[in-house]
Amino acid sequence: MNTPSEPETEPERNTDDLLWVVPLEKCPFDQGVFVEVADRELAVFRMSHPSAVYVIDNACPHANGNLSAGDVQDGIVCCPWHGWRFHLCNGRSAQGSVVRVRSYPVEVRGGDVYIRI
Ligand code: FES
Repeated sequence: MNTPSEPETEPERNTDDLLWVVPLEKCPFDQGVFVEVADRELAVFRMSHPSAVYVIDNACPHANGNLSAGDVQDGIVCCPWHGWRFHLCNGRSAQGSVVRVRSYPVEVRGGDVYIRI
């Protein structure tokens, strides 16, 4: 007679200040990925040269454009709606504006992307 097996449980991935975002393997190089986690809408960018992972809020501060769908060049994402540009490393405008998008400190642990909150 078979006995029911224990249900698989999700490993505890978050800590007090780290929020799990996405497995790194789900992030293609040099383009954005939209992730919704813990009531946050995020854009994750896994860059190849130089190798880095960046996480910013997905909504463009101009009119909520989808930054994860923006083209990336030289560490700058270009909003697909009206072309505002932001540095992925710090969220600052690449056009000299004081407007910025929130960026998060990133940690990659065990093949997963986390942000420090
Ligand atoms: S919504 Fe991003 S530039 Fe307008």
